[in-house]
Amino acid sequence: MRKFIVAGNWKMNTTVPEGELLANEIQTKIWHYDRDKFQLIVAPPYTHLATVGQILDSDRVKLGAQNLFWEEKGAYTGEVSAAMLKSIDVEYVIIGHSERRKYFNESDEILLKKVQIALNYNLTPIFCIGEQLEQREANEHFDVIKSQLENVILRLSAEQLSKVIIAYEPVWAIGTGKVATPEQAQEIHHFIRQLISEKFSSNLANDLTILYGGSCKPNNVAGLFEKPDIDGGLIGGASLKADDFLEIFKILIDKKS
Ligand code: PGA
Repeated sequence: MRKFIVAGNWKMNTTVPEGELLANEIQTKIWHYDRDKFQLIVAPPYTHLATVGQILDSDRVKLGAQNLFWEEKGAYTGEVSAAMLKSIDVEYVIIGHSERRKYFNESDEILLKKVQIALNYNLTPIFCIGEQLEQREANEHFDVIKSQLENVILRLSAEQLSKVIIAYEPVWAIGTGKVATPEQAQEIHHFIRQLISEKFSSNLANDLTILYGGSCKPNNVAGLFEKPDIDGGLIGGASLKADDFLEIFKILIDKKS
């Protein structure tokens, strides 16, 4: 039941023509794989979604957005709604990335609304959590993770939660080249599953996909993907190179087959 996933978060990188080239390269090089068990996703900027979606064969590479707004529609200049994303065949949406929490002051309250609107429109949220460096150094990482889950994910119904992907991304590992050790990540992933199991059920916890994110590269993911509670990766920098991105996916398939 649990699905193993590699998702690429392009962030605010590439022009539209550059993004088309990248998508074409991914599409040309991606192979047939067991789609019941594995999934490859790319999340380009809003401006690229429609064209990148046309380039990618959704049987093999799914389309994700990096954000959405929590209202249905209306006078919210500059925002993009769930219905808009849905209308161009977006299937996933990253919510609560640490960069959005930091630069756009996205609070847990806002994130809960975003997760709910996404679910209402059958978009699968990739919900990000993670502690900052000072919090880990002060040994507060478990408390931070717990409160980030309690304020959003644990407020959903079991049925809603079963449709969410969680991404553990320690903030100190994002874009820094400083990847969490497999043991550090496994410990948190296990903790997340335990909290969900306590609140809901062990079946639900076991079926959930929990990704690790933060400086994943082809040369460091094998140890992470070997861990029983790490079900794949949310990839930033390395998703901008088709070969690296696909190599990471290949390693995931190898480790989880
Ligand atoms: P990174 O980003 O792989 O460049 O560290 C990961 C992320 O922010 O999702």
